[in-house]
Amino acid sequence: MALPGRVVRKVRNMGRYRRAARAARAQTPGLNTRVVRRDDMMARAQPDQYFVAGHAALEAIERGVTAAGVGAPKTILDLPSGYGRVLRYLMVRWPDADFTACELMPDGVEFCASEFGVRPLVSRDPLWDVDLGGPYDLIWSGSLFTHFDVPYWTPTLAHLAGALAPGGALVFSTQGEPALGFLSGSPDYPVLTRVLPPNYGLPRDRADALVKDVQETGFGFAHYAGSEESPYGTSISLPDWVTERLREAGLDVVLHETGGWGGHQDVWTTVARTTD
Ligand SMILES: C[S@@+](CC[C@H](N)C(=O)[O-])C[C@H]1O[C@@H](n2cnc3c(N)ncnc32)[C@H](O)[C@@H]1O
Repeated sequence: MALPGRVVRKVRNMGRYRRAARAARAQTPGLNTRVVRRDDMMARAQPDQYFVAGHAALEAIERGVTAAGVGAPKTILDLPSGYGRVLRYLMVRWPDADFTACELMPDGVEFCASEFGVRPLVSRDPLWDVDLGGPYDLIWSGSLFTHFDVPYWTPTLAHLAGALAPGGALVFSTQGEPALGFLSGSPDYPVLTRVLPPNYGLPRDRADALVKDVQETGFGFAHYAGSEESPYGTSISLPDWVTERLREAGLDVVLHETGGWGGHQDVWTTVARTTD
């Protein structure tokens, strides 16, 4: 007897997820691969990409930690943690560190606390009003600045810098040249075209306006349709523009990797400036 369509799809997706989780555990022994349905970082049609992205983030963070000479970080803040897509890899890599997971979605924070045993910290908007605790040897901020407009950048960066321990590093991601190429429809990024939502989920006219802004100023931002009141949208920021925000926030660049996170987002490793 044939199963009803929805059930068939569910069973197929579950099979894909199980295979992806098994492969991820084989690549990273000890990895917790439990992912809840409401974790929207996992595209149900491509569950393997969740673990590909988590692993690629860890590799980029490791390069940053090495470049900054942090050693083995003892205190680590993952902000925003989501439901722990990257956090779970950091925990395998530095099992003795003390972890804090900070997120705007209380449910994501609760999941990270109950599943991984990390310290929960529910965030607010704006982020610079949140007591981040710390100080931290390593702050990882993946795919946060990629969603903020200009006024959020310098105060958020400065707030994160203020939570660093002496010698600590802030490693964060931005959407730079590869993102601009993808959003412009360049044929040079077939992998991004395969795994990302078309136009980053933006209406085409907003994507076009964003691309034009980036070409003219080095920075562009657009709201998602129906979320015009939210500070959260999509941004693209080119290296010179980001470098200027870092200067304003009192951070020095140790390493900048174009597409350092799996060929998609740029990864910046920064440390608090000690002299002006
Ligand atoms: C694209 S997700 C990335 C999540 C995670 N870093 C990852 O890579 O899976 C961006 C996250 O930023 C969170 N966020 C937005 N504003 C925030 C704020 N002020 N404080 C903390 N998290 C925030 C959102 O709730 C969302 O989960």
